[in-house]
Amino acid sequence: MRNVPVPLGERSYAIKIAPGLLAQLGAECATLRLGSRCAIISDRNVAKPYARAAEKSLRAAGFDPVLITVPAGETAKSLRVVGACYDQLAAHRLERKSFIVALGGGVVGDLAGFVAATYLRGIPFVQAPTTLLAQVDSSVGGKVGVNLKAGKNLVGAFHQPRLVLCDLNTLATLPPREFRAGIAEIIKYGIIYDAELFRRLEHDMEKLLARDVETLAAVIARSCEIKADVVGQDETESGLRAILNFGHTIGHAIENISGYGKYLHGEAIAIGQVAAAKISAELTGLPANDMVRITELFRRAGLPTHINLSAAQRKRLFAAMKLDKKVAAGEIKFVLARRLGEVIWGQSVPDAVIERALVHSAFRIPRSAF
Ligand SMILES: NC(=O)c1ccc[n+]([C@@H]2O[C@H](COP(=O)([O-])OP(=O)(O)OC[C@H]3O[C@@H](n4cnc5c(N)ncnc54)[C@H](O)[C@@H]3O)[C@@H](O)[C@H]2O)c1
Ligand SMILES: [Zn+2]
Repeated sequence: MRNVPVPLGERSYAIKIAPGLLAQLGAECATLRLGSRCAIISDRNVAKPYARAAEKSLRAAGFDPVLITVPAGETAKSLRVVGACYDQLAAHRLERKSFIVALGGGVVGDLAGFVAATYLRGIPFVQAPTTLLAQVDSSVGGKVGVNLKAGKNLVGAFHQPRLVLCDLNTLATLPPREFRAGIAEIIKYGIIYDAELFRRLEHDMEKLLARDVETLAAVIARSCEIKADVVGQDETESGLRAILNFGHTIGHAIENISGYGKYLHGEAIAIGQVAAAKISAELTGLPANDMVRITELFRRAGLPTHINLSAAQRKRLFAAMKLDKKVAAGEIKFVLARRLGEVIWGQSVPDAVIERALVHSAFRIPRSAF
């Protein structure tokens, strides 16, 4: 088993990564001095194959779990579903020391985490992420929340889990498209922080796509370490944490203008990262060869690397970027790469440069790159 510590003072916790960990859920929770009542919040796709194992393991360790199932998909991240969860927690008489287990992808993690952050002014929770994206990204860092009609993640809190348990076996049932979307975040960690991880992904991409357990364990653990390291230095997002948004300014805008659902988040940020790499080659000295390697790695992961936009769509994309909540005083700030493994944040980028990065044919790969 791999164990990644997340050092956050009193709120420190561990991320445990191994195949078959759901069977250990109860035993692991038993080490945390929690009350006996608990709730597993899961979605229908995940509850069916995995809730029973989680319940059984909790019962065997002396806990009294109730299963709360929510609909699958982003729409479950709503205040209406939050309200329905509160009612069930109250009906099952969960109290201050009781805890919640989030069993599912990022949607369930964000929702259940928000419920845990607010029910009785906050009760403990444990993450049992079942998508690749949730295992390398959303379950680490303590951001929880739900959507409003006006936009995504507009209501939320910082609430750290007491434990994150990544059972690699759950990834076996993840649809291929969802799996590839998670790889986009792993590649991001390589670009922003760790050229060695990037090289490893170049070397092992086929094994990763085949969901080889040893490869998964290694890259998930490294990704969690990087996220934990970044979050540990900047828990509330005042500076460094911004680097986790590499490729996200354009990515979010793509999700936004194409209607949520056309592109998965991981697909949109794959396009966004390739565009950010092109901008970096122009503005921050990213070597052309690194830009080519970045584009190529996304392609090998089966992710999109560019988007064809009409002039009108590009206009909408710019408008969407300027609405992004991370925009300060109307100016879009980018995270740009200097070389693989090293980025700088807070970079202003002229519109014309963004535009060039988005027009596929405007960027010819220089011969010197080969
Ligand atoms: N809190 C954060 O820091 C953070 C970071 C990144 C993303 N997010 C949030 O995460 C959410 C996206 O998470 P996601 O990509 O995991 O999506 P998701 O939770 O919607 O899961 C994707 C789909 O896969 C299904 N699924 C989950 N696990 C499965 C399994 N093991 N086998 C078969 N099917 C399975 C789900 O039911 C769903 O249909 C977004 O709401 C996003 O805002 C949060
Ligand atoms: Zn992301």
